[in-house]
Amino acid sequence: MPKTRTKYICQQCGGEQSKWVGKCPDCGAWNTLEEVAELPQSPAQQRRQTLLGNTSPLAQGTITPVVLPEIKPLAQGRISVGYPEMDRVLGGGLVAGSLTLIGGEPGIGKSTLLLQVAGNIAKTAGSVLYVSGEESIEQVKMRAERLEITGEQLYLLASIEMDIIAEAIGRTKPALVIVDSIQTTLSSHLTSAPGSISQVRECTLQLMQLAKSTHTPIFIIGHVTKEGTVAGPKALEHIADAVLYLEGERYHTYRLLRGVKNRFGATHEVGVFEMHGDGLAEVPNPSAVFLADRAAGATGSAVVVSMEGTRPFLVEVQALVIPSNFGNPRCNTNGIEYSRLLMLLAVLTKRVGLAVNNHDVYANVVGGFTLEEPAIDLGVAAAIASSYREKNIAPDMALIGEVGLSGELRAVNRLTLRVREAAKLGFKRCIVPKAGGGAKVSVELENSGLPADFKIFAASSLAVALEVALH
Ligand code: TYD
Ligand code: MG
Repeated sequence: MPKTRTKYICQQCGGEQSKWVGKCPDCGAWNTLEEVAELPQSPAQQRRQTLLGNTSPLAQGTITPVVLPEIKPLAQGRISVGYPEMDRVLGGGLVAGSLTLIGGEPGIGKSTLLLQVAGNIAKTAGSVLYVSGEESIEQVKMRAERLEITGEQLYLLASIEMDIIAEAIGRTKPALVIVDSIQTTLSSHLTSAPGSISQVRECTLQLMQLAKSTHTPIFIIGHVTKEGTVAGPKALEHIADAVLYLEGERYHTYRLLRGVKNRFGATHEVGVFEMHGDGLAEVPNPSAVFLADRAAGATGSAVVVSMEGTRPFLVEVQALVIPSNFGNPRCNTNGIEYSRLLMLLAVLTKRVGLAVNNHDVYANVVGGFTLEEPAIDLGVAAAIASSYREKNIAPDMALIGEVGLSGELRAVNRLTLRVREAAKLGFKRCIVPKAGGGAKVSVELENSGLPADFKIFAASSLAVALEVALH
Protein backbone atom coordinates (compact mmCIF):
# COMPACT_ATOMS: atom_id res chain seq x y z
CA MET A 1 0.00 0.00 0.00
CA PRO A 2 1.45 3.38 -0.94
CA LYS A 3 2.42 5.57 1.95
CA THR A 4 0.16 8.61 2.45
CA ARG A 5 2.25 11.71 2.13
CA THR A 6 1.44 15.00 3.68
CA LYS A 7 2.29 18.55 2.75
CA TYR A 8 1.83 21.88 4.48
CA ILE A 9 -0.23 24.66 2.94
CA CYS A 10 -0.16 28.27 4.07
CA GLN A 11 -3.70 29.42 4.92
CA GLN A 12 -2.81 32.98 3.98
CA CYS A 13 -1.21 32.70 0.58
CA GLY A 14 -1.68 29.07 -0.43
CA GLY A 15 2.06 28.40 -0.66
CA GLU A 16 3.06 24.73 -0.31
CA GLN A 17 5.89 23.45 1.87
CA SER A 18 7.09 19.91 2.40
CA LYS A 19 7.95 20.55 6.05
CA TRP A 20 6.25 22.55 8.76
CA VAL A 21 7.81 25.90 9.50
CA GLY A 22 6.63 28.62 11.84
CA LYS A 23 6.85 31.39 9.28
CA CYS A 24 5.62 30.96 5.72
CA PRO A 25 8.60 31.52 3.42
CA ASP A 26 6.27 32.83 0.68
CA CYS A 27 4.22 35.49 2.44
CA GLY A 28 5.95 35.83 5.81
CA ALA A 29 2.82 35.08 7.88
CA TRP A 30 3.33 33.31 11.18
CA ASN A 31 1.68 30.05 12.20
CA THR A 32 -0.40 29.69 9.07
CA LEU A 33 0.87 26.35 7.75
CA GLU A 34 -1.59 23.49 7.98
CA GLU A 35 -0.97 19.83 7.33
CA VAL A 36 -2.88 18.38 4.38
CA ALA A 37 -2.89 14.77 3.20
CA GLU A 38 -1.64 14.53 -0.35
CA LEU A 39 -4.02 12.53 -2.54
CA PRO A 40 -2.36 9.93 -4.78
CA GLN A 41 -3.30 12.19 -7.65
CA SER A 42 -4.62 15.69 -7.29
CA PRO A 43 -7.71 16.72 -9.30
CA ALA A 44 -5.52 19.09 -11.26
CA GLN A 45 -3.18 16.26 -12.23
CA GLN A 46 -6.12 14.12 -13.27
CA ARG A 47 -7.45 16.90 -15.42
CA ARG A 48 -4.08 17.35 -17.04
CA GLN A 49 -3.83 13.66 -17.75
CA THR A 50 -7.22 13.49 -19.45
CA LEU A 51 -6.21 16.40 -21.58
CA LEU A 52 -2.97 14.78 -22.66
CA GLY A 53 -4.12 11.17 -22.95
CA ASN A 54 -5.96 9.49 -25.80
CA THR A 55 -9.26 9.98 -24.04
CA SER A 56 -8.83 13.75 -24.30
CA PRO A 57 -11.98 15.50 -25.57
CA LEU A 58 -9.76 17.42 -27.96
CA ALA A 59 -8.48 14.18 -29.48
CA GLN A 60 -12.02 12.85 -29.76
CA GLY A 61 -13.24 16.06 -31.32
CA THR A 62 -15.92 16.81 -28.73
CA ILE A 63 -14.20 20.08 -27.80
CA THR A 64 -12.53 22.16 -30.47
CA PRO A 65 -11.34 25.73 -30.61
CA VAL A 66 -14.01 27.88 -32.30
CA VAL A 67 -13.32 30.77 -34.59
CA LEU A 68 -14.64 34.07 -33.18
CA PRO A 69 -17.43 34.93 -35.68
CA GLU A 70 -18.96 31.49 -35.22
CA ILE A 71 -19.48 31.89 -31.48
CA LYS A 72 -23.13 32.60 -30.73
CA PRO A 73 -23.69 35.32 -28.16
CA LEU A 74 -25.57 34.35 -25.01
CA ALA A 75 -29.24 34.81 -25.72
CA GLN A 76 -30.07 36.19 -22.31
CA GLY A 77 -29.32 39.78 -21.43
CA ARG A 78 -28.74 41.08 -17.94
CA ILE A 79 -31.07 40.14 -15.14
CA SER A 80 -31.90 42.89 -12.68
CA VAL A 81 -31.42 41.92 -9.04
CA GLY A 82 -34.19 44.31 -8.11
CA TYR A 83 -31.90 46.98 -6.66
CA PRO A 84 -30.58 49.61 -9.09
CA GLU A 85 -27.79 50.36 -6.57
CA MET A 86 -26.56 46.75 -6.82
CA ASP A 87 -27.23 46.43 -10.56
CA ARG A 88 -24.91 49.34 -11.16
CA VAL A 89 -22.09 47.73 -9.17
CA LEU A 90 -22.62 44.52 -11.16
CA GLY A 91 -22.23 46.52 -14.38
CA GLY A 92 -25.93 46.64 -15.25
CA GLY A 93 -27.33 43.46 -13.71
CA LEU A 94 -26.53 39.78 -13.48
CA VAL A 95 -24.88 37.98 -16.40
CA ALA A 96 -25.75 34.36 -17.20
CA GLY A 97 -23.01 31.98 -16.12
CA SER A 98 -21.17 34.52 -14.00
CA LEU A 99 -19.57 33.78 -10.65
CA THR A 100 -19.72 36.71 -8.26
CA LEU A 101 -17.95 36.78 -4.91
CA ILE A 102 -19.51 38.92 -2.18
CA GLY A 103 -17.00 39.50 0.58
CA GLY A 104 -17.35 41.24 3.90
CA GLU A 105 -16.78 40.95 7.62
CA PRO A 106 -18.99 38.59 9.57
CA GLY A 107 -22.27 40.24 10.59
CA ILE A 108 -22.10 43.06 8.06
CA GLY A 109 -25.21 41.89 6.19
CA LYS A 110 -24.09 39.64 3.31
CA SER A 111 -26.67 36.92 3.98
CA THR A 112 -29.36 39.55 4.43
CA LEU A 113 -28.55 41.28 1.14
CA LEU A 114 -28.41 38.08 -0.86
CA LEU A 115 -31.58 36.69 0.67
CA GLN A 116 -33.33 39.89 -0.38
CA VAL A 117 -31.85 39.52 -3.88
CA ALA A 118 -33.03 35.90 -3.91
CA GLY A 119 -36.52 37.07 -3.00
CA ASN A 120 -36.51 39.63 -5.82
CA ILE A 121 -35.23 37.21 -8.48
CA ALA A 122 -37.68 34.52 -7.35
CA LYS A 123 -40.46 37.02 -7.97
CA THR A 124 -39.28 38.27 -11.35
CA ALA A 125 -36.86 35.95 -13.14
CA GLY A 126 -37.37 32.37 -11.96
CA SER A 127 -36.43 29.94 -9.24
CA VAL A 128 -33.53 30.58 -6.89
CA LEU A 129 -31.47 28.02 -4.99
CA TYR A 130 -30.11 29.36 -1.69
CA VAL A 131 -27.51 27.00 -0.26
CA SER A 132 -26.84 27.66 3.39
CA GLY A 133 -23.92 25.97 5.04
CA GLU A 134 -23.99 28.21 8.09
CA GLU A 135 -27.63 28.38 9.09
CA SER A 136 -30.37 25.77 9.11
CA ILE A 137 -33.22 26.24 6.64
CA GLU A 138 -35.49 27.12 9.58
CA GLN A 139 -33.15 29.94 10.55
CA VAL A 140 -33.12 31.21 6.98
CA LYS A 141 -36.91 31.02 6.92
CA MET A 142 -37.12 33.08 10.09
CA ARG A 143 -34.94 35.72 8.50
CA ALA A 144 -36.99 35.59 5.29
CA GLU A 145 -40.14 36.22 7.32
CA ARG A 146 -38.56 39.22 8.95
CA LEU A 147 -37.59 40.52 5.51
CA GLU A 148 -41.13 39.80 4.28
CA ILE A 149 -39.96 37.47 1.54
CA THR A 150 -42.60 34.94 0.60
CA GLY A 151 -40.61 33.18 -2.10
CA GLU A 152 -42.82 30.70 -3.94
CA GLN A 153 -39.83 29.90 -6.11
CA LEU A 154 -37.11 30.20 -3.50
CA TYR A 155 -35.53 26.84 -2.68
CA LEU A 156 -33.40 26.45 0.43
CA LEU A 157 -30.78 23.77 0.83
CA ALA A 158 -28.79 23.23 3.99
CA SER A 159 -25.69 21.45 2.77
CA ILE A 160 -21.98 21.95 2.72
CA GLU A 161 -21.02 19.25 0.23
CA MET A 162 -20.14 20.32 -3.28
CA ASP A 163 -21.44 17.09 -4.81
CA ILE A 164 -24.90 17.64 -3.31
CA ILE A 165 -24.90 21.30 -4.29
CA ALA A 166 -23.99 20.40 -7.88
CA GLU A 167 -26.74 17.79 -8.01
CA ALA A 168 -29.30 20.23 -6.59
CA ILE A 169 -28.37 22.77 -9.25
CA GLY A 170 -28.77 20.10 -11.92
CA ARG A 171 -32.20 19.13 -10.63
CA THR A 172 -33.79 22.48 -9.83
CA LYS A 173 -32.22 24.34 -12.81
CA PRO A 174 -32.49 27.66 -10.97
CA ALA A 175 -32.16 31.13 -12.46
CA LEU A 176 -29.76 32.03 -9.64
CA VAL A 177 -27.68 30.12 -7.10
CA ILE A 178 -26.42 31.59 -3.83
CA VAL A 179 -23.79 29.76 -1.80
CA ASP A 180 -23.58 30.99 1.81
CA SER A 181 -20.68 30.70 2.48
CA ILE A 182 -17.66 29.43 0.54
CA GLN A 183 -15.82 28.87 3.83
CA THR A 184 -18.29 26.15 4.80
CA THR A 185 -18.38 24.21 1.52
CA LEU A 186 -16.56 20.94 1.25
CA SER A 187 -15.23 19.13 -1.80
CA SER A 188 -14.81 15.37 -1.51
CA HIS A 189 -11.69 15.63 -3.70
CA LEU A 190 -9.74 17.03 -0.79
CA THR A 191 -9.16 15.83 2.70
CA SER A 192 -8.60 19.21 4.33
CA ALA A 193 -11.19 20.91 6.53
CA PRO A 194 -13.78 23.40 5.19
CA GLY A 195 -12.45 26.93 5.23
CA SER A 196 -8.89 25.91 4.49
CA ILE A 197 -7.39 27.57 1.49
CA SER A 198 -7.26 24.43 -0.62
CA GLN A 199 -10.95 23.65 0.03
CA VAL A 200 -12.07 27.20 -0.59
CA ARG A 201 -10.15 27.35 -3.83
CA GLU A 202 -11.26 23.93 -5.09
CA CYS A 203 -14.94 24.61 -4.29
CA THR A 204 -14.78 27.99 -6.02
CA LEU A 205 -13.27 26.37 -9.11
CA GLN A 206 -16.00 23.74 -9.14
CA LEU A 207 -18.69 26.40 -8.77
CA MET A 208 -17.08 28.35 -11.60
CA GLN A 209 -17.27 25.31 -13.87
CA LEU A 210 -20.89 24.74 -12.83
CA ALA A 211 -21.79 28.36 -13.57
CA LYS A 212 -20.18 28.23 -17.00
CA SER A 213 -21.55 24.83 -18.02
CA THR A 214 -25.13 25.49 -16.87
CA HIS A 215 -25.17 29.24 -17.68
CA THR A 216 -26.43 29.86 -14.16
CA PRO A 217 -25.29 32.98 -12.34
CA ILE A 218 -23.83 32.06 -8.96
CA PHE A 219 -23.16 34.30 -5.95
CA ILE A 220 -20.72 33.06 -3.36
CA ILE A 221 -20.39 34.67 0.03
CA GLY A 222 -16.89 34.89 1.48
CA HIS A 223 -16.05 36.06 4.98
CA VAL A 224 -13.26 38.51 5.34
CA THR A 225 -10.97 38.17 8.31
CA LYS A 226 -9.83 41.09 10.44
CA GLU A 227 -6.78 41.63 8.28
CA GLY A 228 -9.09 42.45 5.40
CA THR A 229 -8.53 39.45 3.18
CA VAL A 230 -11.11 36.83 2.22
CA ALA A 231 -10.00 33.71 4.10
CA GLY A 232 -8.48 31.81 1.27
CA PRO A 233 -7.50 35.35 0.51
CA LYS A 234 -6.74 36.68 -2.91
CA ALA A 235 -6.98 33.06 -4.03
CA LEU A 236 -10.63 33.61 -4.87
CA GLU A 237 -10.49 37.05 -6.40
CA HIS A 238 -8.77 35.91 -9.56
CA ILE A 239 -11.17 33.01 -10.11
CA ALA A 240 -14.43 34.93 -9.73
CA ASP A 241 -15.82 37.02 -12.59
CA ALA A 242 -16.79 39.82 -10.26
CA VAL A 243 -15.78 40.61 -6.69
CA LEU A 244 -17.90 42.89 -4.53
CA TYR A 245 -17.30 43.86 -0.93
CA LEU A 246 -19.97 44.87 1.52
CA GLU A 247 -18.39 47.41 3.83
CA GLY A 248 -19.37 49.67 6.66
CA GLU A 249 -19.02 49.78 10.38
CA ARG A 250 -21.16 47.43 12.30
CA TYR A 251 -22.42 50.19 14.57
CA HIS A 252 -23.31 52.50 11.72
CA THR A 253 -26.32 51.73 9.62
CA TYR A 254 -24.83 52.50 6.20
CA ARG A 255 -23.38 49.75 4.04
CA LEU A 256 -21.34 50.26 0.90
CA LEU A 257 -21.34 47.61 -1.79
CA ARG A 258 -18.05 48.21 -3.55
CA GLY A 259 -16.97 46.53 -6.79
CA VAL A 260 -13.26 45.71 -6.89
CA LYS A 261 -13.27 43.50 -9.97
CA ASN A 262 -15.78 42.99 -12.75
CA ARG A 263 -15.30 41.12 -16.00
CA PHE A 264 -18.62 42.49 -17.26
CA GLY A 265 -18.51 46.16 -16.38
CA ALA A 266 -16.69 49.04 -14.76
CA THR A 267 -14.98 48.37 -11.45
CA HIS A 268 -14.94 50.65 -8.42
CA GLU A 269 -18.66 51.34 -8.61
CA VAL A 270 -20.33 51.76 -5.26
CA GLY A 271 -23.90 51.09 -4.16
CA VAL A 272 -25.20 52.46 -0.88
CA PHE A 273 -27.61 50.66 1.43
CA GLU A 274 -28.92 51.25 4.89
CA MET A 275 -29.60 48.49 7.45
CA HIS A 276 -33.05 48.73 8.99
CA GLY A 277 -34.95 46.42 11.31
CA ASP A 278 -36.49 44.84 8.25
CA GLY A 279 -33.39 44.42 6.12
CA LEU A 280 -31.26 46.51 3.80
CA ALA A 281 -32.81 49.41 1.93
CA GLU A 282 -31.26 51.34 -0.94
CA VAL A 283 -30.03 54.87 -0.45
CA PRO A 284 -30.47 56.41 -3.90
CA ASN A 285 -29.14 59.86 -3.04
CA PRO A 286 -26.35 59.17 -0.56
CA SER A 287 -24.72 62.61 -0.40
CA ALA A 288 -27.95 64.27 0.73
CA VAL A 289 -28.31 61.66 3.48
CA PHE A 290 -24.69 61.86 4.66
CA LEU A 291 -24.88 65.61 4.98
CA ALA A 292 -28.32 65.63 6.59
CA ASP A 293 -27.27 65.91 10.24
CA ARG A 294 -24.34 68.22 9.79
CA ALA A 295 -23.99 70.86 12.47
CA ALA A 296 -23.69 73.85 10.14
CA GLY A 297 -21.22 76.44 11.32
CA ALA A 298 -19.17 74.17 13.59
CA THR A 299 -15.42 74.58 13.42
CA GLY A 300 -13.34 71.68 12.16
CA SER A 301 -15.93 70.54 9.64
CA ALA A 302 -15.45 70.48 5.86
CA VAL A 303 -17.29 68.89 2.96
CA VAL A 304 -15.23 66.96 0.43
CA VAL A 305 -16.22 65.48 -2.92
CA SER A 306 -14.89 61.97 -3.39
CA MET A 307 -15.38 59.88 -6.53
CA GLU A 308 -16.62 56.40 -5.78
CA GLY A 309 -16.57 54.68 -9.15
CA THR A 310 -18.30 56.97 -11.60
CA ARG A 311 -20.31 58.73 -8.92
CA PRO A 312 -19.25 61.73 -6.87
CA PHE A 313 -20.06 61.55 -3.14
CA LEU A 314 -20.20 64.57 -0.88
CA VAL A 315 -19.08 63.62 2.58
CA GLU A 316 -18.33 65.61 5.71
CA VAL A 317 -14.89 65.27 7.30
CA GLN A 318 -14.27 66.53 10.81
CA ALA A 319 -11.13 67.41 12.68
CA LEU A 320 -10.44 68.32 16.27
CA VAL A 321 -7.16 69.96 17.19
CA ILE A 322 -6.26 70.50 20.84
CA PRO A 323 -2.99 71.43 22.59
CA SER A 324 -1.19 68.28 23.60
CA ASN A 325 -0.70 67.54 27.28
CA PHE A 326 2.02 65.06 26.61
CA GLY A 327 5.45 65.31 25.10
CA ASN A 328 4.31 63.19 22.19
CA PRO A 329 1.26 64.67 20.45
CA ARG A 330 -1.30 62.07 19.46
CA CYS A 331 -3.09 61.58 16.17
CA ASN A 332 -6.10 59.47 15.50
CA THR A 333 -8.04 58.90 12.29
CA ASN A 334 -11.28 57.27 11.38
CA GLY A 335 -11.92 56.65 7.69
CA ILE A 336 -8.78 58.45 6.50
CA GLU A 337 -5.39 56.88 6.04
CA TYR A 338 -3.22 57.62 9.08
CA SER A 339 -0.08 58.29 7.08
CA ARG A 340 -2.01 60.71 4.86
CA LEU A 341 -3.04 62.69 7.95
CA LEU A 342 0.57 62.88 9.15
CA MET A 343 1.61 64.14 5.72
CA LEU A 344 -1.07 66.84 5.76
CA LEU A 345 -0.01 67.90 9.28
CA ALA A 346 3.58 68.18 8.09
CA VAL A 347 2.54 70.32 5.10
CA LEU A 348 0.34 72.53 7.31
CA THR A 349 3.25 73.06 9.68
CA LYS A 350 5.99 73.71 7.17
CA ARG A 351 4.19 75.28 4.19
CA VAL A 352 1.29 77.11 5.80
CA GLY A 353 2.95 77.94 9.09
CA LEU A 354 0.33 76.48 11.44
CA ALA A 355 1.94 75.11 14.59
CA VAL A 356 -0.21 71.98 14.61
CA ASN A 357 2.75 69.75 15.36
CA ASN A 358 2.46 70.17 19.13
CA HIS A 359 -1.27 69.44 19.14
CA ASP A 360 -3.34 66.29 19.38
CA VAL A 361 -5.25 65.86 16.14
CA TYR A 362 -8.32 63.72 15.56
CA ALA A 363 -9.79 63.34 12.07
CA ASN A 364 -12.99 61.55 11.23
CA VAL A 365 -15.13 60.79 8.20
CA VAL A 366 -18.79 61.09 9.14
CA GLY A 367 -21.01 58.06 8.57
CA GLY A 368 -18.36 55.40 9.11
CA PHE A 369 -16.90 55.53 5.61
CA THR A 370 -13.38 55.11 4.44
CA LEU A 371 -12.22 57.66 1.89
CA GLU A 372 -9.10 56.81 -0.05
CA GLU A 373 -8.96 59.40 -2.76
CA PRO A 374 -6.22 62.06 -2.54
CA ALA A 375 -8.82 64.58 -3.78
CA ILE A 376 -10.08 64.82 -0.19
CA ASP A 377 -6.72 66.19 1.04
CA LEU A 378 -7.77 69.82 0.80
CA GLY A 379 -10.94 69.18 2.81
CA VAL A 380 -9.08 67.32 5.55
CA ALA A 381 -6.36 69.98 5.76
CA ALA A 382 -8.99 72.73 5.85
CA ALA A 383 -10.93 70.97 8.62
CA ILE A 384 -7.73 70.76 10.69
CA ALA A 385 -6.90 74.42 10.05
CA SER A 386 -10.49 75.38 10.86
CA SER A 387 -10.36 73.65 14.24
CA TYR A 388 -6.90 75.03 14.99
CA ARG A 389 -7.86 78.61 14.17
CA GLU A 390 -11.37 78.32 15.63
CA LYS A 391 -12.83 79.64 12.40
CA ASN A 392 -15.56 77.80 10.60
CA ILE A 393 -15.73 77.01 6.89
CA ALA A 394 -18.89 78.33 5.22
CA PRO A 395 -21.47 75.52 5.35
CA ASP A 396 -22.26 75.97 1.65
CA MET A 397 -18.65 75.38 0.56
CA ALA A 398 -17.22 72.15 -0.89
CA LEU A 399 -13.46 71.53 -1.11
CA ILE A 400 -11.72 69.54 -3.83
CA GLY A 401 -7.98 69.03 -4.33
CA GLU A 402 -4.93 66.92 -3.66
CA VAL A 403 -2.21 68.49 -1.52
CA GLY A 404 1.42 68.04 -2.58
CA LEU A 405 4.47 68.11 -0.31
CA SER A 406 5.37 71.63 -1.46
CA GLY A 407 1.97 72.80 -0.28
CA GLU A 408 0.69 73.04 -3.86
CA LEU A 409 -2.83 72.03 -4.84
CA ARG A 410 -2.68 69.26 -7.40
CA ALA A 411 -5.18 68.49 -10.13
CA VAL A 412 -7.89 65.88 -9.60
CA ASN A 413 -9.78 63.90 -12.22
CA ARG A 414 -13.42 64.49 -13.16
CA LEU A 415 -13.47 67.96 -11.68
CA THR A 416 -16.53 69.03 -13.66
CA LEU A 417 -18.59 66.10 -12.42
CA ARG A 418 -17.64 66.79 -8.80
CA VAL A 419 -18.47 70.48 -8.96
CA ARG A 420 -21.81 69.77 -10.63
CA GLU A 421 -22.75 67.32 -7.88
CA ALA A 422 -21.94 69.94 -5.24
CA ALA A 423 -24.12 72.48 -7.06
CA LYS A 424 -26.91 69.92 -7.36
CA LEU A 425 -26.95 69.49 -3.60
CA GLY A 426 -27.34 73.19 -3.01
CA PHE A 427 -23.71 74.14 -2.33
CA LYS A 428 -22.88 77.67 -3.44
CA ARG A 429 -19.10 77.73 -3.32
CA CYS A 430 -16.35 75.35 -4.28
CA ILE A 431 -12.56 75.51 -4.02
CA VAL A 432 -10.75 73.61 -6.76
CA PRO A 433 -7.08 73.27 -7.78
CA LYS A 434 -5.82 75.77 -10.31
CA ALA A 435 -3.45 73.15 -11.71
CA GLY A 436 -4.39 70.74 -14.50
CA GLY A 437 -6.80 73.15 -16.16
CA GLY A 438 -8.80 73.68 -13.00
CA ALA A 439 -8.93 77.41 -13.64
CA LYS A 440 -10.16 76.83 -17.20
CA VAL A 441 -12.70 74.30 -16.01
CA SER A 442 -14.01 76.71 -13.44
CA VAL A 443 -14.61 79.40 -16.10
CA GLU A 444 -16.30 76.85 -18.35
CA LEU A 445 -18.44 75.60 -15.53
CA GLU A 446 -19.57 79.03 -14.50
CA ASN A 447 -20.78 79.67 -18.03
CA SER A 448 -22.53 76.36 -18.43
CA GLY A 449 -25.69 75.74 -16.55
CA LEU A 450 -24.45 76.06 -12.96
CA PRO A 451 -26.65 78.30 -10.82
CA ALA A 452 -25.75 81.95 -11.36
CA ASP A 453 -24.76 82.45 -7.72
CA PHE A 454 -22.39 79.46 -7.66
CA LYS A 455 -18.79 80.57 -7.12
CA ILE A 456 -15.70 78.59 -8.00
CA PHE A 457 -12.31 79.52 -6.54
CA ALA A 458 -9.31 78.07 -8.35
CA ALA A 459 -6.42 78.00 -5.84
CA SER A 460 -2.79 77.23 -6.62
CA SER A 461 -1.73 76.24 -3.12
CA LEU A 462 -3.10 75.03 0.19
CA ALA A 463 -2.24 78.38 1.79
CA VAL A 464 -4.30 80.28 -0.81
CA ALA A 465 -7.19 77.84 -0.48
CA LEU A 466 -7.21 78.24 3.32
CA GLU A 467 -7.29 82.05 2.94
CA VAL A 468 -10.50 81.64 0.96
CA ALA A 469 -12.01 78.92 3.14
CA LEU A 470 -11.26 80.53 6.52
CA HIS A 471 -11.46 84.24 6.12
P1 TYD B 1 -26.02 38.96 8.26
O1 TYD B 1 -26.69 39.13 6.94
O2 TYD B 1 -26.32 37.71 8.99
O3 TYD B 1 -24.46 39.14 8.15
P2 TYD B 1 -23.37 38.24 7.41
O4 TYD B 1 -24.08 37.25 6.57
O5 TYD B 1 -22.58 39.24 6.62
O6 TYD B 1 -22.54 37.63 8.47
O7 TYD B 1 -26.42 40.24 9.10
C1 TYD B 1 -26.40 40.18 10.45
C2 TYD B 1 -26.60 41.53 11.06
O8 TYD B 1 -27.59 42.29 10.44
C3 TYD B 1 -27.05 41.30 12.46
O9 TYD B 1 -26.17 42.00 13.30
C4 TYD B 1 -28.42 41.82 12.53
C5 TYD B 1 -28.53 42.76 11.39
N1 TYD B 1 -29.88 42.75 10.77
C6 TYD B 1 -30.66 43.88 10.87
O10 TYD B 1 -30.29 44.88 11.48
N2 TYD B 1 -31.89 43.89 10.27
C7 TYD B 1 -32.36 42.82 9.60
O11 TYD B 1 -33.48 42.85 9.07
C8 TYD B 1 -31.54 41.65 9.50
C9 TYD B 1 -32.00 40.43 8.78
C10 TYD B 1 -30.29 41.68 10.10
MG1 MG C 1 -24.19 35.17 6.93
